[in-house]
Amino acid sequence: MVTLTFVSSDGKESRTVKAPIGISLMKLAHFEGIDVEGACGGNLACSTCHMIFSEADFARLPQMGTDEDDLLDLAPNVTATSRLGCQITVSPELDGLTIHLPPAP
Ligand code: FES
Repeated sequence: MVTLTFVSSDGKESRTVKAPIGISLMKLAHFEGIDVEGACGGNLACSTCHMIFSEADFARLPQMGTDEDDLLDLAPNVTATSRLGCQITVSPELDGLTIHLPPAP
């Protein structure tokens, strides 16, 4: 288990959770009742699992694939440190990661 923190889109609320190794950040958010849509169920077809990271945390994430990069372009309010949460699997290296939810479109 690792410890991760979700921060609301307005930055006013944060919630720290324990995450099992191997779960995606999108599924973790669903399990914890955190407001992440994930409409396609993690099949890389919707971009509604958009999450934003600090530059330091972004550098710790596994490398982004071309398909994720292309789909991310369709997400509203995308940033240089945006990723799709369904494509990031929790690993021991991500302990202490902070996940910022994007502003509503
Ligand atoms: Fe649809 Fe991530 S849940 S792309």
